[in-house]
Formats: sequence, C-alpha cells, structure tokens
Amino acid sequence: MSRHPLQSIVSLAKRRGFIYPGSDLYGGFANTYSFGPYGAQLKKNIKDLWWRHFVEERTDIVGLDGPILLHPRVWQASGHVDGFSDALVDCKQCKSRFRADHLLEAAGKFNADTLPLQEMDQAILDLAVECPHCKKREWTLCRHFNLMFTTQMSKVSNTEGSLAYLRPETAQAIFIDFKNILDTMRVKLPFGIAQIGKAFRNEITPGNFIFRVIEFEQMEIEYFIDGAQWEKNFEVWLESMHTWCRWIGLRPSCVHEKEHPKEQLSHYSKRTVDLVYDFPFGTSELYGLAYRSDYDLRQHEIYSHQALTYTDPETKAKYLPHVIEPTFGVERTLLALLCDAFDEESLADGSTRSVLRFLPRIAPVKAAVFPLMKKEPLTARAQEIFSTLRSHFVCEYDASGAIGKRYRRQDELGTPYCITIDFDTLQDGTVTVRDRDTMEQIRLADHKILSWLQTHLSR
Ligand code: GAP
Repeated sequence: MSRHPLQSIVSLAKRRGFIYPGSDLYGGFANTYSFGPYGAQLKKNIKDLWWRHFVEERTDIVGLDGPILLHPRVWQASGHVDGFSDALVDCKQCKSRFRADHLLEAAGKFNADTLPLQEMDQAILDLAVECPHCKKREWTLCRHFNLMFTTQMSKVSNTEGSLAYLRPETAQAIFIDFKNILDTMRVKLPFGIAQIGKAFRNEITPGNFIFRVIEFEQMEIEYFIDGAQWEKNFEVWLESMHTWCRWIGLRPSCVHEKEHPKEQLSHYSKRTVDLVYDFPFGTSELYGLAYRSDYDLRQHEIYSHQALTYTDPETKAKYLPHVIEPTFGVERTLLALLCDAFDEESLADGSTRSVLRFLPRIAPVKAAVFPLMKKEPLTARAQEIFSTLRSHFVCEYDASGAIGKRYRRQDELGTPYCITIDFDTLQDGTVTVRDRDTMEQIRLADHKILSWLQTHLSR
C-alpha cells in the first residue's frame, strides 16, 4: 500500500499547479478536474513516452486519431447501447445515489455486479444495507443506468435521429477504421492500431481524486491476430505492460495482476487481466488487458453490411482477425506516478521536505536555473545558461526568494536538478548542480552542464 495518504498528494497537486478541481470558480463540478501547467506537462510526457514506446519504436503498430463522435449505430453494434450500464439505487431519505454493487460489496456480498436487479434489491434488504451518507435504510428499487453521455446533433440523415454519444472507449474508433487501415497501409497480421484520446463515462461513483472521472483519456491498442494464436499473444502483451510500468518508474512491488472471474467479464471479453496498483485508497485497476476475440469486427460486419475479413498474403485464406486489447488510462497513470513518486522526508534541522521522485524521463521540469541573488551580472549569466538549456528540455528560471525555498519548490515539482549561478561562477566559470534525491551538490564547469544533464536525464 502507498506510504502516504491521498490527501497529501491532492494538496501538493493543487498547491503546485498539477491538478485543480474542475470549474473551481463556480464551486466545482463533480468528478471533473483541470490539469494545471505541471499536470498538463506530466500528461504530455506520459502520452509522448507511450506513443514512442508502442508506436514509433515498433514496426507492427500504426497510429490513428479517430473522432469522439461516431455514427450512433457503432454503439449499437458494439453492445454499449444495451450493455454498458451500472445498477444504481437511491436513498429515499437524503436522495444520494449509489452503485448497488458497490454498496453490496461493502456489506460483504462478493461479485454483486453479476446479480440481476431483483436479486440486488433482495440482497440490499437481507443485508440491511445502510446509506453511507445518512445511515437510513430506505432505498428505491435498483435500476440500470447507461454510462454513455448523449448529445444532440442536427440530423445525421433523413432516416436517423439526432441522438449521438460521446465515446465511452477509444477502441471503437479503431475497429471502424480497421478496413481503411487494411486498404491503405502495408500491414500484415499480427499488427496493432494505437490511439490516444478522450473518452467519457457518466460515472456516478465518487472518484478518489482523478481515479474515476467522467472525462478522461485512454491510450489503447487493438492488436489484430490469428485467433489460434491468442493465448501466446496475451502473455506477450501482459509482459509488455509490466515493462511499460517499469519504464515510467512505477515500482514493480506495487503493480499486480488481477484475473477477472468469468462471470464478471465485459460483454466483449473472453479473458481479462487487470494490472492493479497499490493506491493509497486500496489496490485498484490501473490498466486492463482483454482478449476481445472477433466480437467487435463481427458485430461491425453485421451492422455495417461490409466485409472486414483479412486475406492472408501467403495462403490466401480469408478470416476475421481476433483482437488482444491492452488499454491504459492517462489519468490513472498520472495518479499512480504521483503516488509512487511522492515522499516526505524529515531533515536534520527538524523540518520536513516533500518531494516527487519522478524518473527524469517523466518529470515535467528537467532542470531549474537560479542566480544566487537577483543581481547583475549573476542574473545575466543565469539567463544565458537558461536559454541554452531550454532549447533542449523543459527548464525553469527562478530568481525570487531564498535559495532554500527555491530548491523546495522544485523538489515538490519533481525537478531532478537545480543549477545555481553564484559569485564563483563569475570567477572560475563553475556552477553548482544540486541533486533532488540526495540533495548533494557538485560543481561543474558551466560549458559542461548541457552534456552532463543530457547524460543524467536519459535515465
Ligand atoms: N476499451 C476497453 C476499456 O475501455 P476499461 O477497463 O473500461 O476498458 C480502460 O477502461 C482503462 O481506462 C482503465 O484501465 C482505466 O485506466 C481507464 N478508465 C476507465 N474508466 C475510467 C474513469 N472513469 N476515470 C479514469 N480512468 C478510467
């Protein structure tokens, strides 16, 4: 379990411009957040690293950027219109709304999400479930609530209505462009299509900060294979997902696998393993790996009346590919990184230092440059060094306040190195480089800083 309470991470995230409550000016808007300057940079680093790792550095995966609004029939074909719902129940006394399976699981009933509605109603009575808010036991009947957000469009065609859905997963945009990719790219099975983009879910459950939000980003790959090979590909992908976790710096001892029992599988999945992470509020889903069989392509063949078969270039055999889907949430990655990197350290002088120990490749700011004092010619020399460095990586310049405070601020941003220009710099051309984790300082010739940082930041 994480060593620090979620509240410490939430307050650092707000104080230091990583994450603000959504619509803060208007008193907030449930389950929405804004990513401030450092949060936005951290998110960008996650997405850039993911794209590099899974698309640019591989020859078997191509990228796609599909639309958020897809033809409404896509969601009928995919099964989301009929099957993508939670069972909800309201407290008659305080009008709070809950997911019935969450209430039942808290009361000790396992696999509650597999129960039909009537059995949920009965179990709520049998277990004398109390409202977590007002402690009363007066419940409405459970009913299904679809998680897709709807919106209105001007008519799609004369025969279609005006209802459209905001996509609840990025995956469907990939499936419906499978044929375009086959027709335009020189792809050969097995191959994958990767996409990063927004998804929306009308979640009613409060979210443990950014863990469960209504608007989030997914990084998904649909990896198309010959169905006979699914087990081998599944294992390879599971290992690739662990490699990714290590690559971004999540400690392996906090990442575990959780197999979904058969009765809890999503409507499209034949096997799902989640990578779960030890968050401060409990061990919960970080990523998912699903074997979707040929479910989606088959459904889209039926609903679109178009063939989506693949022709093997050697044997000329025609078949529908099967799919292995590794899926990664951007916000959950960011939250896991914050929880993993956050540390509070007692110092010899009795004070406490908060620090984010990000790997350099993930850190939003790579280096900060300080003149010891806001005085010429210290500031001019510091500005020169800053302009050289900032053309290579994200850097900050800070000349205000005591040097100790400036270090502490950068520690809380997770900046690996701080460079201070002092009076010795003017005499002998050396600067101080301070390491975030050890707080040790070394002196380096100023013309060597760039190459020194390039070596040390490539960790
Ligand atoms: N295409 C498969 C799919 O969407 P999922 O398990 O429902 O599967 C995939 O979602 C990933 O998206 C999750 O592992 C998680 O990282 C992220 N995710 C799902 N719902 C989320 C929410 N409400 N808020 C933040 N991230 C979410």
